Amino acid sequence: MTARQRKISAIVRNLLEWYPKNARDLPWRRTQDPYAIWVSEIMLQQTQVKTVVPFWERWMRELPTIQAAAKARPEKIHKLWEGLGYYSRARNSQKAAQIIVKEHGGKFPKEFKAALALPGIGRYTAGAICSIAFHQPTPILDGNVIRVLTRVFGIGENPRKPETNRLLWQIAEQSVWMAKSAGKNSFSHLNQALMELGALICLPRNPQCGICPVRNLCFGLRNNCIERLPNLGKRRAATVRRFVAFVVRRNGKYLVRQRPAGVVNAHLWEFPNVEVNGEKRDATAIFRSQFGFLAELRPLCALRHSITRYRITIEAFRVEAARRPAIPGGIWRTKRQLQRLAFNSAHKKILGCVSP
Ligand code: ADE
Repeated sequence: MTARQRKISAIVRNLLEWYPKNARDLPWRRTQDPYAIWVSEIMLQQTQVKTVVPFWERWMRELPTIQAAAKARPEKIHKLWEGLGYYSRARNSQKAAQIIVKEHGGKFPKEFKAALALPGIGRYTAGAICSIAFHQPTPILDGNVIRVLTRVFGIGENPRKPETNRLLWQIAEQSVWMAKSAGKNSFSHLNQALMELGALICLPRNPQCGICPVRNLCFGLRNNCIERLPNLGKRRAATVRRFVAFVVRRNGKYLVRQRPAGVVNAHLWEFPNVEVNGEKRDATAIFRSQFGFLAELRPLCALRHSITRYRITIEAFRVEAARRPAIPGGIWRTKRQLQRLAFNSAHKKILGCVSP
């Protein structure tokens, strides 16, 4: 055994002892259903555990089987994902469910390669499902695991560099192999222990090294460079974007439109809105250029929203329209009817400010 293999072996031993005593009791950890585990992994890709739990519970209640997910109306899929963001995850999951029904007899495929071939399932997700649901020695590497491994092994190169990424996958792979002799659940427990360590202890800031099960083995702790790892390089500066949105009412109904395919938040509903670039144009002029007539605007609400590197502010205005403005794809609905459509988070908040 090389020194690295000995170190990996010791880490694996500590993690497998630590995990059963310290794992959070999460609803998808109480099941062996690969479908339920798959849904949890997709939701957890860009979203924190505490946010995901109620979404996962509702999804599993409404669509308890792969068949149900395959057959659901797209509006239902969007509504169940409303507020989680990155909606292509939901659409890809439905596409994958349809493929599973057609090509795999409705059962989530056990083979890693077949799982990897499904829409929305990459190397990480396929590895997570195969290890957790099927007890296979498939490695995983996500942001949390990268943080743990770069710190414990003292990897100072940027993990996004291909050769560094390859090295990290190699360590992850050797780790699952080292877990081999530790019983049926060992691959599942080891992978989830790495995730759990990254989520609870090996935090980006203020890591809880005092209670870490691998503190004695950690390069970063010994060399006082934890906070500099992982080395993700310079972040791109945040971009400020400003929008005005119009809540146009006529005869008790509101005007909304659906975002087209292929754009951010595709297929979700929103109030008509315009990005205001640079110059401080006044909302009344913007309304006129969009709708072709003048109307009295009343401020409704203003909100901030951060998504990826964008810091977005949206000012929403209420408009009682004397005329019936037409916009492409626009429909008129009462507030109650709007509550059944899927809006993105920002526009859902605007809807919350709207009177009945
Ligand atoms: N993040 C990604 N997958 C997870 C899981 N199975 N449990 C907790 N956090 C996770």
